Amino acid sequence: MSPSETSTELGLPAMPAKPYPAEVHERLAADAAELIARYPQSRSALLPLLHLVQAEEGFVSTTGIRFCAEQLDLTTAEVTAVATFYTMYRRRPAGKHHVGVCTNTLCAVLGGDQIFAELQQHLGIGNNETTEDGEISIEHIECNAACDYAPVVMVNWEFFDNQTPDSTRQLVDDLRAGREVRPTRGARLCSFKESARILAGFPDEREGANDESGAGGAPSLAGLRLAKGEQLPGTPGARVVSPRGEGSDA
Ligand code: FES
Repeated sequence: MSPSETSTELGLPAMPAKPYPAEVHERLAADAAELIARYPQSRSALLPLLHLVQAEEGFVSTTGIRFCAEQLDLTTAEVTAVATFYTMYRRRPAGKHHVGVCTNTLCAVLGGDQIFAELQQHLGIGNNETTEDGEISIEHIECNAACDYAPVVMVNWEFFDNQTPDSTRQLVDDLRAGREVRPTRGARLCSFKESARILAGFPDEREGANDESGAGGAPSLAGLRLAKGEQLPGTPGARVVSPRGEGSDA
């Protein structure tokens, strides 16, 4: 099978790889040239280019794969192998808002599994599916390195911390109704396609997007405080560990 024909066996939609309309192709080619110029070897720009085509269509289509292959002088098989390896490249169109529920170990035991089960029921869709109005797609995702705020839900890769089934239902209802929602931290929410363009490497113009100090929040620093001998709130019998690892009862 040629990946440029159909790619159902690889999890891609069954459609011929038609080229983009001329105006779209010209615009994307200019963006691609800007990205490729950042790398000594053009093929190193493949991951950004896959985000670029995902920003155009909301997923990596066979048309997008063909475009990337042409720009980078790769085969469509090579591009397909990469696009189907990384889970952030979608193989079906995402909703305007792509909601990821972390069901990795810590989030799962603290309620992530329950959140995802109830969210599927609430929206009437399954994993990797999109609501009929095109507003919401859902996916169970692996650890997003925010375990200290578990259970965590992502919308277009922005964090919504310490979620519950109720708060997540309210979140998707607000998104579908066009009500403004704010991530727990970071910049304001943008659409899934806009987030894909930022991930491609174009400037993130959102207010506050680049203002973060990088310091961890209180839950992230709890272990460090304990190691330094501080008494944590609500832990009267906590064992305090010295910097050399020697323990004593607090
Ligand atoms: S297990 Fe969910 S963020 Fe780490």
